[in-house]
Amino acid sequence: MNPMNPMNSEPNIQDMTRITCDPPRPQPDNGEPRPVLEVRNVTRTYAGEPPVRALRGVSFAVRPGELVAVVGPSGSGKTTLLHLMGTLDRPSTGTVRITGCDVAAMSDRQLAALRATQIGFVFQQFFLSEHSTLVDNVADGLLYTGIRSADRRAQALNALGLVGLADRPDARPTQLSGGQRQRVAIARALVGRPSIVLADEPTGNLDSATGASIMELLGALHDAGVTIVVITHDRSLADRLPRRIEMLDGCIIADTASVMPAQAISVPVDSANAVPADDSRFRPGRQP
Ligand SMILES: Nc1ncnc2c1ncn2[C@@H]1O[C@H](COP(=O)(O)OP(=O)(O)OP(=O)(O)O)[C@@H](O)[C@H]1O
Ligand SMILES: [Mg+2]
Repeated sequence: MNPMNPMNSEPNIQDMTRITCDPPRPQPDNGEPRPVLEVRNVTRTYAGEPPVRALRGVSFAVRPGELVAVVGPSGSGKTTLLHLMGTLDRPSTGTVRITGCDVAAMSDRQLAALRATQIGFVFQQFFLSEHSTLVDNVADGLLYTGIRSADRRAQALNALGLVGLADRPDARPTQLSGGQRQRVAIARALVGRPSIVLADEPTGNLDSATGASIMELLGALHDAGVTIVVITHDRSLADRLPRRIEMLDGCIIADTASVMPAQAISVPVDSANAVPADDSRFRPGRQP
């Protein structure tokens, strides 16, 4: 599979029905919901002369409904970490669990099915099909879920509404601004109601005002219950998010979750395009 375009993976629908955690992990007895994502003692070393130790033992968990920023200088391991969280790559050592399932125990086809149903991706480069309409681009996010074409389109229209583009379903990406393109990519990530949305520098190709509006949209989606991990270089944007994980040289050097309860701070939402906080069209999907 091409890690740059995970939408191109083609899981067999039957694989999805076989995604089970064996043995099932018990619910934590402290009353907290089971994490959507768990990363434990994870390392990733790229082969080469010399080998690159991109991650050197990273651990954290993301609970349902959290909005987490991952920050750090270039080369600190952020994208490597996102690929592992998104099951686009496997750790050298350590454990990654998505909705309680240990990805090490899963075949490539099962992982593709897990991605199609549980994880939404947003990338700096948008990865939209220029020749397709907005609604078809978003509906592509449901291609491997077994949902009928007419229903895919209806759900795609809903998702476009969540990002403020419901009135332009038949436009093409070339007719949009960069910020609007990224909104379409976010709608595509959301349309399958994934358990978690992973975004790698979603504001990296945008001017600062447009980038701020995209982060406000992510904040509004968070308020509506979506679980999001977002990598950003922009510290001023990250500082406004409820939780920050700071990376340096393949290690986590700070995680505000240890000093601040999740959702203690909410991102102000003043964009007319952003989803209202009480929007009943979106609720976190498929939480275990
Ligand atoms: N496929 C690869 N093969 C070899 N080395 C790699 C590969 N991908 C990343 N690296 C190296 O791993 C380290 C971490 O890279 P990574 O892309 O995760 O950093 P990053 O924090 O996302 O950086 P940036 O902010 O520039 O995107 C870097 O030293 C990088 O050169
Ligand atoms: Mg990167």
